[in-house]
Amino acid sequence: MIILGIESSCDETAASILEDGKLLSNVVVSQIDIFKSYGGVIPEVAARSHLEAILPVIDKAFQDANLLKDGESDWDKIDYIAVTHTPGLLGSLLIGTLTARTLAILRNKPLYAVHHLKSHIYSNWLDTNEAPVFPLISLVISGGHTQIIYMPEHNHFEIIGTTLDDAVGECFDKVAKILGLPYPGGPSVAQSAKSGNSEKYRFPHPTVEGLNFSFSGLKTAVLRAVQKECGVDISFPSHELKNLLTKEQISDFSASFQKTAIDILLEKLSHALREHPDVKTLVFAGGVSANAELRRLAGIFFAGSTLKIHFPEPKFSGDNAAMVAMACYYEIKSDVKPIDPYSLDISPRSEII
Ligand code: KG4
Ligand code: ZN
Repeated sequence: MIILGIESSCDETAASILEDGKLLSNVVVSQIDIFKSYGGVIPEVAARSHLEAILPVIDKAFQDANLLKDGESDWDKIDYIAVTHTPGLLGSLLIGTLTARTLAILRNKPLYAVHHLKSHIYSNWLDTNEAPVFPLISLVISGGHTQIIYMPEHNHFEIIGTTLDDAVGECFDKVAKILGLPYPGGPSVAQSAKSGNSEKYRFPHPTVEGLNFSFSGLKTAVLRAVQKECGVDISFPSHELKNLLTKEQISDFSASFQKTAIDILLEKLSHALREHPDVKTLVFAGGVSANAELRRLAGIFFAGSTLKIHFPEPKFSGDNAAMVAMACYYEIKSDVKPIDPYSLDISPRSEII
């Protein structure tokens, strides 16, 4: 079973080919260099960049997989097409879904529309010989989402916790801006934190009931602490704060913020696991799961537990199309039916998997 996956939900244009769950190719063209100078993603520019990149990226996926006939992409070899249809930036999603729909119709291939967060969860089984062990709990931590999801089996998702405001990745990105660290903020904060003292500054944990999260207060707490450290009041322009900070202070703020964010995530996870004692596997997913300190501290936090702890390979933590094809692979194995390519809907903010 050979699946072509396509992903374009934010600022990565990606295509990947999987055969029976094994990776044949994985092409990701990132727009990071374009958005570095802006300090963030500009949706219209992202959509236009996807439009330029998408067909060459798909061609490259065929080349890397060695699926060529007379030097051209060999479409006869493809059994299914899978594409991210939600959530994401509207214009970005449109490029991927319109491309996938058109190819499905022209090449007469069954089309699967895959939810982005589901793909992130399934990224955990790329390049491994393991299969998911249920029931599992997944912590999905990306730029747009922070959710705890309970999965009793394939294709059954129960959102048992979610952020009430900012996502944790968004919080990393906003703190990076306050500290003057380059886009994308998450990896920059993680890098800066390496030489910092995580005990230097103390930030309060939000008091959110149950398994929900709130990260907007943490971002504001960092802002106030930076203002205090710089000896300025809250009317001081926040984009100028970075000029008043030393490299050492920036590293200490990065490390202290990162430690607090990770502690909040791990505490909620342990709460979720207490409420679901049947869970056998704990799965991290989404861009923030690349964070090395999170991986280290989670290892310590859950040491001694019988849980199987899974992180995706760092190269599959961020947005890619291999995870889309992988999620589709498990949909097909679970007998999920393809969709009608003429009626594929996109939804920029769907929380429902
Ligand atoms: O899953 P993803 O690539 O895109 C979305 O679906 O949103 O996640 C992107 C988010 C961004 O907020 C980025 O700053 C964050 O993941 N991120 C990280 C790290 N790498 C990416 N956050 C913390 N530490 C990292 N190493
Ligand atoms: Zn993502």
